[in-house]
Amino acid sequence: MLGFGTVGTGAFRMLHDNKKAIEDKIGLPVEVVRIGVKDLGKDRIAPSDLFTDDLWSIVDDPSIDVVVELIGGTDPACSLVERAIQNGKHVVTANKEMMAKFGSRLVQSAKDGKLDLHYEAAVGGGIPLIQPLKHQLAGNDVLQMMGILNGTTNYILTAMQQEGRGFEEVLKEAQAKGYAEADPTNDVDGFDTMYKISILASIAFGKQVPIESVYREGIRKVTKTDMAYAEILGYRIKLLGIVDAVSSESIRVRVHPTLIKKDHQLAHVNGVFNALWLRGDFVGDLMFSGRGAGSDPTASAVVGDLIDVGRNISANGQGSAIPYGTGMVTEPIDSLVSPFYLRLLVSDRPMVLSVIATAFGENRVSLAAMEMKALDEGLGEIVFLTHPCRESDFQTALKQIGEQDVVDTVANWFRVHDSK
Ligand SMILES: NC(=O)c1ccc[n+]([C@@H]2O[C@H](COP(=O)([O-])OP(=O)(O)OC[C@H]3O[C@@H](n4cnc5c(N)ncnc54)[C@H](OP(=O)(O)O)[C@@H]3O)[C@@H](O)[C@H]2O)c1
Repeated sequence: MLGFGTVGTGAFRMLHDNKKAIEDKIGLPVEVVRIGVKDLGKDRIAPSDLFTDDLWSIVDDPSIDVVVELIGGTDPACSLVERAIQNGKHVVTANKEMMAKFGSRLVQSAKDGKLDLHYEAAVGGGIPLIQPLKHQLAGNDVLQMMGILNGTTNYILTAMQQEGRGFEEVLKEAQAKGYAEADPTNDVDGFDTMYKISILASIAFGKQVPIESVYREGIRKVTKTDMAYAEILGYRIKLLGIVDAVSSESIRVRVHPTLIKKDHQLAHVNGVFNALWLRGDFVGDLMFSGRGAGSDPTASAVVGDLIDVGRNISANGQGSAIPYGTGMVTEPIDSLVSPFYLRLLVSDRPMVLSVIATAFGENRVSLAAMEMKALDEGLGEIVFLTHPCRESDFQTALKQIGEQDVVDTVANWFRVHDSK
């Protein structure tokens, strides 16, 4: 094992507690022979003679069959995994960042060496997502996937929605409870979701999605005011990773806060729970949900992968790494067609609505719903929902609206999931 933190400790405990059942399922004994960590001085739940801070000695040890990488990040994790594969070892990893950046290359190396490289825990913690996409669903053309793939942001958005509290207040509480990191960037700015959705898209569409091609926005701009309007209009706001099949050749991958109808299954995935909703041409609509992080659920996925590797070794298999290529064609956000939500603060004067309606009309944006409220000091608040329109048209209309004298502030806007 490389790494013995939250996930490593859970995986070790599961291998210890369920040892007999796991070995019966594999048909071979499983032994953790070496554990690589950074700090040898920490108290651990495993015998101290297993630990080393020389991780290269593990990946170079000829007596070891499987390396379980649970360090995280790309350096030194990626070099260690590459060396383990070169040395003929099967690999299990939970590392989303490494797989999102270098997955195609690593899986190809494993395939070339007739080895296994499994990474179920990298996306959705304990929820089986990667194996179903690689196997049971592989015959489908995937038309759309939408995931709530980050527990921290879903916890924050759920608390904002259910308790009417603001982003900063809930973030501080989440940090105090250990649900959010001291530096929350990776979660709240959507990087974690970007890594995960790009891995899922790479598997579903058979080519690595370059993460630079993923449109990404986080949840910092979500306010309790927008949460309340969304509720009135029949929506919830969720941070979604979305993959759309645009044509037979291309996909669009995006991460952003999205208004989703309250009657959609994803609107009811709350707190630290994660989910993936998927539409396949033959299977239809499908949703997986469960605990997307934490020591035990993630250990469940790691040990499941290890059992797969063990069965393969036991059957004298040739490795079951399923490679995906490169050269995925992706579409920019500009050409997205989506409904939008827009909140404006305007002067409480006649003609306001006609000025705004003209800017929308000139840019081919039509309106589906509206809410208005008088505020203090001669201001009014107006919220619009548009029919589906091109992102570039909406952005032009938004700029034009922002320049009107009667418009005090463009307070916020979001994309809305088109439920058709
Ligand atoms: N936590 C979750 O719920 C979760 C869920 C899904 C996937 N994952 C993924 O699982 C992986 C592990 O996450 P985690 O939460 O278990 O991380 P963690 O608690 O921070 O543990 C990381 C482990 O790696 C060791 N380590 C870090 N850098 C090292 C280095 N340069 N050399 C040697 N050892 C090093 C640390 O050693 P010390 O113990 O000595 O500090 C520690 O044991 C990551 O890829 C993460 O994205 C985590």
